[in-house]
Amino acid sequence: MAVYGQGREMRQILGPMSTLDPSRIPAHVAIIMDGNGRWARKRGLIRSLGHENGVDALRRIATRSAELGIRYLTVYAFSTENWQRPRAEVDALMGILVSALKKELKTLKDNNIRLNAIGDLDSLPKQCRKELEEVRSKTASHTHMTLTLALSYSAREELVRAARTLAEAAVAGTIAPADIDATLLRSALYSHPLPDPDLLIRTSGEYRISNYLLWQIAYAELYFSDKLWPDFTADDLDLALLDYQSRDRRFGLTQEQLNALS
Ligand code: FPP
Repeated sequence: MAVYGQGREMRQILGPMSTLDPSRIPAHVAIIMDGNGRWARKRGLIRSLGHENGVDALRRIATRSAELGIRYLTVYAFSTENWQRPRAEVDALMGILVSALKKELKTLKDNNIRLNAIGDLDSLPKQCRKELEEVRSKTASHTHMTLTLALSYSAREELVRAARTLAEAAVAGTIAPADIDATLLRSALYSHPLPDPDLLIRTSGEYRISNYLLWQIAYAELYFSDKLWPDFTADDLDLALLDYQSRDRRFGLTQEQLNALS
């Protein structure tokens, strides 16, 4: 398991071989942005300041991702479980989301990034939904990268909802139960039609998936960093990508079969 904490130092250790191969940049990177609360606590600050600094980190990483040619970046901004946090923190996070959406429209425009969102979006406060809709429509024609915010998101709930949608279609007679296969189930997920992530990064030294994109990460490479999310830099992203490029992705096949395919 690769755990790199110090970007520049690790680049020095890796030496001249440590340049990214532009032809092997993953199409889709998913991130669990963890550690905002600990970042704030270490500085004697309130947790919401950790989240505010988390937005700065997200801007850095989205900009670097677009620069590198990553086509899809999907970040876990708020889980269904996060609703159970103290009311003040939930309110602060929703406020930060609204002001970040207003403020970052320029970043999205400058980098030709389309904003997208997945999750139980109807459960978000009205102001968030309104702002989200506005930024989504204002960036709908952007083509360089899609930034997806997972908001009020739970992978299990996503799968339950997909099962319910397909069951309703079967009862209505639009599909037969025998039609239900991986392709049809995938089409009923929140994330449709995004491709599956190639790489999943989690920060803050925690080694969990926490109900994130469970279906979609079936073949993703996993990378864990012990940096807290507000400290995660463009260099740290490069290191994660270097590590990704050092892996053999076989999708359950043998190396010989893969060689024959290429
Ligand atoms: C996890 O840190 C992070 C979150 C629950 C929220 C992530 C939100 C942001 C990065 C900023 C807001 C994003 C947008 C798109 C506006 P934690 O609070 O669980 O940290 P801890 O484990 O150290 O307590």
